[in-house]
Amino acid sequence: MFFKTLRRLAPIAFLIATALSAADDTAKAHVPALKDVFARDFLVGAALERSFYNGTRPERSALVVSQFNAVTPEIAMMWQFIHPEENRFDFASADRCVDFATKHGLVVSGHMLVWHQLTPAWVFKNADGSPASRETLLARMREHIRTVVGRYKGRVKSWDVVNEALDDDGALRDTPWRRIIGDDYIEQAFRFAHEADPDAELYYNDWGVESGKRLEGALALLRKLKAAGVAVSAIGIQEHVNLDYPGAKDVDKAIGEFAKIGVRVLITELDVDVLPRTPEMDEANVDITRVKMTRPEENPYAGAGGLPEAMQARLAKRYAELFAVYLKHRDVIGSVSFWGVTDRESWLNNWPVRGRTN
Ligand code: XIL
Repeated sequence: MFFKTLRRLAPIAFLIATALSAADDTAKAHVPALKDVFARDFLVGAALERSFYNGTRPERSALVVSQFNAVTPEIAMMWQFIHPEENRFDFASADRCVDFATKHGLVVSGHMLVWHQLTPAWVFKNADGSPASRETLLARMREHIRTVVGRYKGRVKSWDVVNEALDDDGALRDTPWRRIIGDDYIEQAFRFAHEADPDAELYYNDWGVESGKRLEGALALLRKLKAAGVAVSAIGIQEHVNLDYPGAKDVDKAIGEFAKIGVRVLITELDVDVLPRTPEMDEANVDITRVKMTRPEENPYAGAGGLPEAMQARLAKRYAELFAVYLKHRDVIGSVSFWGVTDRESWLNNWPVRGRTN
């Protein structure tokens, strides 16, 4: 059964792989749209870098509209950009993204409300530089969530309420949020989001939750939130993967486990890293771009030849096996979103090493 589905999917995976690495951004008439291929299964989305919605590159916007029925602003809603100073919000970019989506009938997922990265230092401090109290930080969190969620009420369907709160051992990560507020900061964030838009679908989002301690930790966290009566309806599995890891079997099992505890699943940030990694690159920190490239072997596809046929085929096979799993679980999966529209704009070209060709 699995292999039959896989065979059926092979051409689709090839289209995904080639569409994503296409030499020009123009939508090609002969390529079936991803959103149509999976129309009866789940929404298919992409994270949008700003040139895809701000009107400067019409061909990019056209590509989005032709292929996808869901979008996520890639960075526009991150705290650092949307709320840079205590009494100043900057909605310009997020507004444009949501307006673009609304105009074209694309479902919007909001990314994200609470994270330990790309959050300005003032959030955690008093005016004199001393650490903020639990009360102050809770009040700031509530104000931020109330303002952002409230502004897009009815236009953003689902919110990534808390992003990447787990450590590799499955316990809660040590972050300023947790240190100052306590372990209940996650529960509080969900309560504030629910209060701001009772109709929004609220999810917890993390990477590496397909197996091991991270999967156990995510299941435990979601069970705990649900037992406390928190309005969490889904897990966002980021799905930043490479060609071999995590295995399709693990992805399959993990989705099954989440379904068993009664949460829906959103695949939120799918991409496949095809470049070699050294151990120092394996750290989930978006600032890791300090890692320097030292040998040409670390950037093998930068030349005119691009990705060799054999690698292209492996990439296609990888997409095929992942989408076979998603299809199997279509009853619990709300959407599958790629982290980026094409490989050319993908953050993987600059992370975990700046300036490679992924
Ligand atoms: C990345 C963006 O793609 C980059 O443009 C930005 O510089 C850093 O963040 N997990 C997440 C996303 O939840 O927000 C990250 O996005 C990728 C990892």
